[in-house]
Amino acid sequence: MKVLVATEKPFAAAAVEGIKKEIEGAGNELVLLEKYTEKTQLLDAVKDVDAMIIRSDKVTAEVLDAAKNLKIVVRAGAGYDNIDLAAATAHNVVAENTPGQNSNAVAELVFGLLVFAVRNFYNGKSGSELKGKKLGILAFGNVGRNVARIAKGFGMEVSAYDAFCPADVIEAAGVHAVKSQDELFQTCDIVSLHIPATPETIKSIDYKTVNQLPKGGILINTARKEVINEEELVKLMAEREDLKFITDIKPDADAEFAKFEGRYFSTPKKMGAQTAEANINAGIAAAKQINAFFKDGCTKFQVNK
Ligand code: 3PG
Repeated sequence: MKVLVATEKPFAAAAVEGIKKEIEGAGNELVLLEKYTEKTQLLDAVKDVDAMIIRSDKVTAEVLDAAKNLKIVVRAGAGYDNIDLAAATAHNVVAENTPGQNSNAVAELVFGLLVFAVRNFYNGKSGSELKGKKLGILAFGNVGRNVARIAKGFGMEVSAYDAFCPADVIEAAGVHAVKSQDELFQTCDIVSLHIPATPETIKSIDYKTVNQLPKGGILINTARKEVINEEELVKLMAEREDLKFITDIKPDADAEFAKFEGRYFSTPKKMGAQTAEANINAGIAAAKQINAFFKDGCTKFQVNK
């Protein structure tokens, strides 16, 4: 079987080596398309492959049409909003993700960004500490749980809300479970977003929601840019000079946000999962899932069931 690694944002070299070892060790062939810049390169590379490993790369109906032999696509990571699931199902292609494999990397970046924010982006002026601050985690999945673990090390008071995770599971992790998203914003100094981009969550972080943060509140987004109503957040930040917004997913309205000097920061590229460890964990997990699919028909991590 021919397996393609198609990554516009490439894995660390050690991860590619590990993927190669797994794929070739199972008697399959590995081909690489890294740092591609044009869609045509992807459309050409998928023509004769049986499987694909991707990151945030877009697997659209057009890509699936071009990939005549494709049987499985594995998103090495958590969020699979970049795969057209309906089209994958229509093309009889199994779509999978690798949940949990890169979540520590994203969670650590949350704190890298947070310390930077509360120390005024290292501008030399006196900042504040995270200890004793109230942190709200929106969605208690793999990333949210790692954020909670690290926050406790900082001595923060941690609350969480997850529409799909029972309160007793959150409480069992030593985290205060609040009853609603609104309560999280009303009671926390900092809210960290870990929700996926779905029809229900897209643009859900809007003016009304964020305006509930107390004075000096910080919104941090390492999830998906689509969950933020950017137009409304720009309006709110213009009205409330106490609010900060930090993110590792550059918003479409980056230029508008950039006007809020000292209150806004975005990494130039999505950086959350950009560590050797995360690449190795997620990349090798993806390779193993593909091998298991071809060997035993295993579809444990299928997301288009
Ligand atoms: C994920 O969904 O796993 C993270 O957002 C990481 O995405 P990336 O592989 O594109 O960095």
